[in-house]
Amino acid sequence: MSDQPHADPRATAANGRAAAQAAAVEKALAALDLDTKAALLSGQDMWTLPAVPAIGLRSMVLSDGPVGVRGQEWSARDHSVVLPSPTALAATWDPALARRAGHLLAQEARRKGVHVLLAPTVNLHRSPLGGRHFECYSEDPLLTGAIGSGYVRGVQEGGVGTTVKHFVGNDAETDRLTVDNRIAPRPLHELYLAPFAHLVENARPWGVMTAYNQVNGSTMTEHHHLVNDVLRGEWGFDGCNVSDWTAARHTVRALRGGLDIAMPGPRTVFGAPLAAAVRAGEVAEAEVDAAVRRVLLLAARTGCLAGVPAAVGPEDVPQGIDGPETAREIARRSFVLVRNEPVGVARRALPIDAAAVRKVAVIGAAARDARVLGGGSATVFPERVVSPLAGLCAALPDDVEVTFAAGADPRTRVPQARDGFTLRVRYLTADGQLLVEEPRSDGGVMVMGSFPEGVTQETLGAVELTGSFTPEATGSHTLAVSGTGALRLTVDGAVLFDDRCAPEGGDPFEAFMHPVERRVRVPLTAGERVAVTLRFVPAGLGLGSDIDALNFALGHRPPRGDAADGIEEAVRAAAAADVAVVVVATTEEVESEGFDRTHLRLPGRQDELVTRVAAANPHTVVVVNSGSPVELPWRAAVPAVLLSWFPGQEAGVALADVLLGAHEPGGRLPTTWPARLEDAPVTRVTPEDGALAYSEGLFIGYRAWQRSGKEPAYAFGHGLGYTDWEYEALEATAESVRVRLRNTGRRAGREVVQIYLAPLDSGIQEGFERPDRWLAGFATVEAGPGESIETEIPLPQRAFEIRHPEGRWVRVPGVYRVEAAHSVEDPRLAVEITVGGE
Ligand code: BGC
Repeated sequence: MSDQPHADPRATAANGRAAAQAAAVEKALAALDLDTKAALLSGQDMWTLPAVPAIGLRSMVLSDGPVGVRGQEWSARDHSVVLPSPTALAATWDPALARRAGHLLAQEARRKGVHVLLAPTVNLHRSPLGGRHFECYSEDPLLTGAIGSGYVRGVQEGGVGTTVKHFVGNDAETDRLTVDNRIAPRPLHELYLAPFAHLVENARPWGVMTAYNQVNGSTMTEHHHLVNDVLRGEWGFDGCNVSDWTAARHTVRALRGGLDIAMPGPRTVFGAPLAAAVRAGEVAEAEVDAAVRRVLLLAARTGCLAGVPAAVGPEDVPQGIDGPETAREIARRSFVLVRNEPVGVARRALPIDAAAVRKVAVIGAAARDARVLGGGSATVFPERVVSPLAGLCAALPDDVEVTFAAGADPRTRVPQARDGFTLRVRYLTADGQLLVEEPRSDGGVMVMGSFPEGVTQETLGAVELTGSFTPEATGSHTLAVSGTGALRLTVDGAVLFDDRCAPEGGDPFEAFMHPVERRVRVPLTAGERVAVTLRFVPAGLGLGSDIDALNFALGHRPPRGDAADGIEEAVRAAAAADVAVVVVATTEEVESEGFDRTHLRLPGRQDELVTRVAAANPHTVVVVNSGSPVELPWRAAVPAVLLSWFPGQEAGVALADVLLGAHEPGGRLPTTWPARLEDAPVTRVTPEDGALAYSEGLFIGYRAWQRSGKEPAYAFGHGLGYTDWEYEALEATAESVRVRLRNTGRRAGREVVQIYLAPLDSGIQEGFERPDRWLAGFATVEAGPGESIETEIPLPQRAFEIRHPEGRWVRVPGVYRVEAAHSVEDPRLAVEITVGGE
């Protein structure tokens, strides 16, 4: 794997910088009084830390992460290059590509004045119901650690900090603010902590974000043992520990628990309450100093402390990276072709031979409105999105006719008003005076951080979204309003809605992001313009009264026939075409932050759509646009299934690259894809009496599937390219594995060689279970047709160890089968090795 640190010609310079930074930190610290020090440990607002000009300290800006850099504004006005979802990045199995993603993100961060990226997310896919799995990498700790290391190295080589999150155990969203995850020492260390440990060792992150949840009885922002003893003590982490947003709850316990920065501000448990705690003798000033040192070091590393060189000199920062091109490459390298059967007696369904088709039917609402990223704090705003429909139209020859049918729209919320609307937002005082007016490109108004200049919490009384709408179609239009507070909608002077809307659900972030939606219908005539105004008086400002935040929206859906008509239309389009490409997707209501999933079915009538289309056209290719697994009950009835994840802004171009064969799909599954939720060995995400027992111990993901004997739809590591590979030779020692393989197909290709260790004669004490096999290494290789290629893959010694309950790693002697495999279920060659104990 290429995420190991190697001797860098710049290492000496870096050491010199580190020494200069340490000296500068001490000097700066000595110049600070207690109040300033305490203030430095607290956000000054949603995304920034305070500046201290007297010591040359600039304000550090922190921003989400992980698929782009949002910046300080939560709006489409501040756009970002949007890369594919973390599950997609993991599906490339390529830490070097993750590192290049990091270089691009650092470039984006610098463009936006961001110093620290709130990413990557390295929690594990424990249950497929985890709502935020699109934002994590994998069910396997080694793959997660390797991809995360590539990412962190890339971002930090660009001079921008990372906060690896959420330390630790935030593997699901239900009751995430309070849940106590009960995790025994072995799974805690061998699974959940392992990616963080890998990252600290291999990529030296400058930051970590502690999670909302508790682990074994202590909330993570106060977890002295895991933060001070393990992360800092055992692993040697020397960076800054930032709380998840609003997760810090107690001044003294948080400081003693190793927390350095409480976010967001201005009112947190640090700052003034911390200075008061020192004065009251509850904590020593020296304890505050230790945290301040780490904050100053972060400032020095990110170039925010004057008079000391940043960790990366300006001459060494990667520059000139093409954002769209990087997004496109990662997307096509991440697409996982899980099935590709011949159509009739002819060639396989993919790639589509553009020269042999006259007509292509592109089907599915997501083919036109691709879902390019997951929801919640991971949201960023692309400057442009290339939909699958646009991508295919552009890539197919001019004489190929492309037809489109939405079929069945899975979205349950009404989309934000856009087509036909001309809107502006007006911030008003309580007595109606205009403070600020801004144009809007759509019906969503979201502030998370700071109001536009000229608006303050004291002066703001109401917000109006106002303008006109010229319908394209005559009929009954649906208008939707959402927001927590009083909403009043008027169309041409007539009041259509006037009521207060209260938040629903327990997670404040989720209630803020997805306020309750109410709908009205109004008959309108094509071409006849109407005046529209939605007035909003927020009930509080969403995320705590200190933070400037508000969120409300106007939605619109044009008149439409019923879904059955849509499906009929899609079936007709498919029947009349040579090839049907159906894009099915999850929605923001399925995969986002603050809640888990309740099932794995595709929303709406998309299963029925695929089944009907496949019956109408044998050459049906299904593209699954989701960030994590969904059930595909029709998968045996279609010849090709391609998983595209949330593919980022270049979705359609990358998809055309792969569907039409300019590139092969390069991805392999980073997580097991169940056929049915009820087959999945671990599903529970709902705590009982406040606690969630990780009672499955070490057995999550493929470790659990193999033990359960159940067949998933597609195994961990599975994925097809457009060529075939023969594994020719395998040699192994306890240190490394050498594999030779040959591309036996007719075109160049890339294979992900996976190495699994299976303990045979375990040599292990009774009571220490181990899985059947586990991933111990991997490498990607490329070869032309007929060529053979050899690769050497190091085996980390940790792969032979277990975490003893007494808190040390123990090497387990015995005989191991070393497998060189195409997936965990598809070993191609195996040899046995014997390893000794300690
Ligand atoms: C999320 C974090 C995120 C933070 C800031 C929290 O709700 O859990 O991942 O970085 O918000 O947006």
